[in-house]
Amino acid sequence: MIAALPAPLERLIAALPKVELHLHIEGTLEPEMVMAKAAHHGVDLRWGSVEALRGAYQFADLQSFLDIYYAGCDVLRDEQDFYDLAIAYFERAHADRVVHAEIFFDPQTHTARGVAMGTVIDGLVRAQRDAEARWGLTSKLIMCFLRHLSEDDAFATLDLARPYLHHLAGVGLDSGERGNPPAKFERVFTAARAMGLTPVAHAGEEGPAAYIREALDRLAVVRIDHGVRCDEDPALVDELAARRVPLTVCPLSNLKLCVVKDLADHNLGRLLAAGLCVTINSDDPAYFGGYIADNYRATAAALGLDAAALKQLAQNAVEAAWLPLTRRVQLLSEIDAL
Ligand code: HPA
Ligand code: ZN
Repeated sequence: MIAALPAPLERLIAALPKVELHLHIEGTLEPEMVMAKAAHHGVDLRWGSVEALRGAYQFADLQSFLDIYYAGCDVLRDEQDFYDLAIAYFERAHADRVVHAEIFFDPQTHTARGVAMGTVIDGLVRAQRDAEARWGLTSKLIMCFLRHLSEDDAFATLDLARPYLHHLAGVGLDSGERGNPPAKFERVFTAARAMGLTPVAHAGEEGPAAYIREALDRLAVVRIDHGVRCDEDPALVDELAARRVPLTVCPLSNLKLCVVKDLADHNLGRLLAAGLCVTINSDDPAYFGGYIADNYRATAAALGLDAAALKQLAQNAVEAAWLPLTRRVQLLSEIDAL
């Protein structure tokens, strides 16, 4: 349950121009769309109804979520599916006053099923263009490697992406973290950086603080996705603060995947107060019970964040985004004025 917030904070959260930096587009696949796409393509699902599917969204940890998340992806087959998925997210994000989003996609989940890289990217890019034309919502694509798969598989994926490089801004690293350290992908990330792609990686979600340091040192990432376990290493926390390395934190995801027992226990407020460039994001909102504004509201209520902290969080996301300076300055002053 999301506790009630004072009305001025509700209004502030609604009004904040938001930048979303940790969003898996496949994680925006709502049960209604899963069912509709399954019927359209004649896919047999384990779940017979929207309610049954939504009822299955009870997770003990990251892996129990990933099993359902990858199963849901099976209904995404053609360019229109990827378009429909992304335009639905952009429309929902626009309703939350998201003005810019840097979104992940997991091509290996699709190419492994015989869906071409071009099918995925063409659908996403068409939705990006429509979102900008309709709502002025700009976006970038970050191609993620699945860390439970091999280095060879990641290299093959990078190769498949070559014809579409102009559509990509960065590369990321996601999926099951434990036992799959960043160093496993050091050579792939070196190659991706040489191709002009900006590196980010999930680290310190379920994995140890050492994976955060490894992602910084060996993958040269410019942001850490999640990163909440950084506080197991005080020297690392100091370094993240001094360097203003952004952490793309996802509070409702952390709650749903049992990374924290209670939102009130979340270290987001402490990390923010310690000067880290903490941001709030929704990760896989169709599965975790809330989009970005829900994450702001739930976190503000659980941690007692005030207006200044909420504005700082929104400004951190502007600082952490890959935006031209003029847009950055404009958004920062828009937030200041609220
Ligand atoms: N962690 C790792 N892999 C993921 C996630 C996440 O939160 N969401 C989708 N793939
Ligand atoms: Zn994620």
